[in-house]
Amino acid sequence: MPIRKYAVRAAGKMNSGWINATLLRDFQAEGTDAHRLCTMEDGCVERFGRETLISFKRVLARERLIKELQSWTSAIHFEVARVFARFIPRKNEEREPPRLIFGDPAENLQTVVTERHLKFGIDFGVGYSPGLFLDQRENRHYVRHIAPKRLLNCFAYTCSFSISAAYVGATTLNIDLSKKSLARGRENFALNSLSTVDHRFIADDVVAVLPRLARKGEKFDVIIIDPPTFSRSPGGKTFRVENDFEKLLIDALELAERDGHILLSTNCSALREHALEVMARYALKTARRAATFRRPTPLADFPPGAGASSIWLALR
Ligand SMILES: C[S@@+](CC[C@H](N)C(=O)[O-])C[C@H]1O[C@@H](n2cnc3c(N)ncnc32)[C@H](O)[C@@H]1O
Repeated sequence: MPIRKYAVRAAGKMNSGWINATLLRDFQAEGTDAHRLCTMEDGCVERFGRETLISFKRVLARERLIKELQSWTSAIHFEVARVFARFIPRKNEEREPPRLIFGDPAENLQTVVTERHLKFGIDFGVGYSPGLFLDQRENRHYVRHIAPKRLLNCFAYTCSFSISAAYVGATTLNIDLSKKSLARGRENFALNSLSTVDHRFIADDVVAVLPRLARKGEKFDVIIIDPPTFSRSPGGKTFRVENDFEKLLIDALELAERDGHILLSTNCSALREHALEVMARYALKTARRAATFRRPTPLADFPPGAGASSIWLALR
């Protein structure tokens, strides 16, 4: 990236939404090179190894973030290979893959990043999301802390939660409508030298699969439920998180071990932590189960309220 030199404020004293040099060093020290660099109201900048991704709601925000990224990288002596940018549309259907705005267009669009020394494949060419949701970092870490024996990963995408679980010895079941995402999940296993022998991958609708698993008497000690706000399955069935989350949780409770844990997470702006708790209380009552709630560890690189809303249910 042709980063011009700017006279800027000293690193560590920036308070305009950019992380400081200390936090950047902390990430390096823990083996993480995929994290937020900046969050503002109408955009953000994320780091994926040597690449950066600017997400913006307005062209003005994109221009400001490009300028500030140049200032920040010079101040902090941080080298960026390429900068990608993507527009955040109101409707998911209007989402487009990021575009390269600085850097070598001849280089391929894939890279590998690390999070607490685990590796994840990133691809800026296949869709709106490059392969790893950075706001789930602490939830993935919590999975490692729980060290489950069996993890059910609903809406698994590239199976990042399963990589965390498999690393600490779990077997996993990954469900996602997208065969391509599950194939990338398998690649993430390979990147971490984890065999997929004890792991299952089902390309199907989570809503249909959960009752099937319950009929077979399957049980899991960690269940991840991080659905999209809206989706349509190939058969035309729609999933709308605000309407369907509760039923999904009731079905998941059937599959949860007595002392199991369930993660409820969503990016839907109408469902903040309190709404998730209200839904969870209703589902627990319906399923005649009891749980304590745990709020996730805050993310050092996300301001409060930015990123997905999540709660953990610790079943009793
Ligand atoms: C928000 S992403 C999940 C992110 C994932 N939990 C993670 O942290 O990497 C949503 C995923 O759900 C999948 N999906 C959407 N509707 C689905 C459904 N009804 N059944 C199964 N998967 C679905 C999409 O293909 C996509 O991969």
